[in-house]
Amino acid sequence: MTLRARILGAAAGGGLPQWNCGCENCRLVRDGRIPAQTQSSLAVSGNGSDWAILNASPDIRQQMADTPDLHPTGLRDVPLRSVLVTNGDIDHIAGLLVLREMQDFTLFATPEIHGVLQANPVFDALNPKVVMRMEITAETPFELASGLEATLFPVPGKVPLYMEGETVETDLIGEQTVGVHLRAGERDAFYIPGCATMSADLRDRLRGADLVFFDGTLWRDDEMVRAGLGPKTGKRMGHMSMSGPDGSIAAFEGLDVARRIFVHMNNTNPVLRPDSDERRVAEAAGWTIGQDGMEISA
Ligand code: MLT
Ligand code: MN
Ligand code: ZN
Repeated sequence: MTLRARILGAAAGGGLPQWNCGCENCRLVRDGRIPAQTQSSLAVSGNGSDWAILNASPDIRQQMADTPDLHPTGLRDVPLRSVLVTNGDIDHIAGLLVLREMQDFTLFATPEIHGVLQANPVFDALNPKVVMRMEITAETPFELASGLEATLFPVPGKVPLYMEGETVETDLIGEQTVGVHLRAGERDAFYIPGCATMSADLRDRLRGADLVFFDGTLWRDDEMVRAGLGPKTGKRMGHMSMSGPDGSIAAFEGLDVARRIFVHMNNTNPVLRPDSDERRVAEAAGWTIGQDGMEISA
């Protein structure tokens, strides 16, 4: 068995370019100098014909149109079996509304994330007669699609931005942000598009893994502040950065992970420019910068 993964969208919320952003990267895309990237999503299959989508981004319509493996095979027959969301952020759930055409699939999430969806009646557009909502408890393996098993596990994170109160804990460990361990026969991979810090538990889990897709939101914690785009740091957003002593590149050193791929990159991240020094540094440290349409098999 082969585990196949295709990056449907490599960018974080907002995408590249983001509609209201005039930062350097967004301008370079508009000038045709660097490739655009759609919002955070990964398609996975254990048998090449049944597929699951991990996180339903607002760009899912275009992402599916661009992916022949996901095209209908009959009048209303589609290869999509399930959608799994790893948190309640808009970039990961808004695409559910695009999937409302009376098509059956299973929607997997933790009880807490299902609670967020249930509290928003607009998601009832996914007719409960055809879209089954399955609550998944952490550390309990389940069949995501034929030939593909998944296990959710908590990673440090926060509640969705639109649910933040006066004070926000940015590294909660619970059901609001999870990672996914995928298995197809002997093959496996991890998908962790949002992570606030590298905890000892996560380090142990990832040690020796074949393939990890990991949170690549920012290059440096104060990147958006320095770009003049507002006061938010990566830490405040619940995302660890790539560089620096607390960054993901340093955190993975010595973990013996064979393939490391950054996903969920914010449009300010310099690694999105193919000729940037930061991209060279990340690649020299063994990382691949995820791109829309990139296919990886394990
Ligand atoms: C994030 O990953 O921090 C969120 O997607 C932010 C957002 O919802 O815009
Ligand atoms: Mn996001
Ligand atoms: Zn921008």
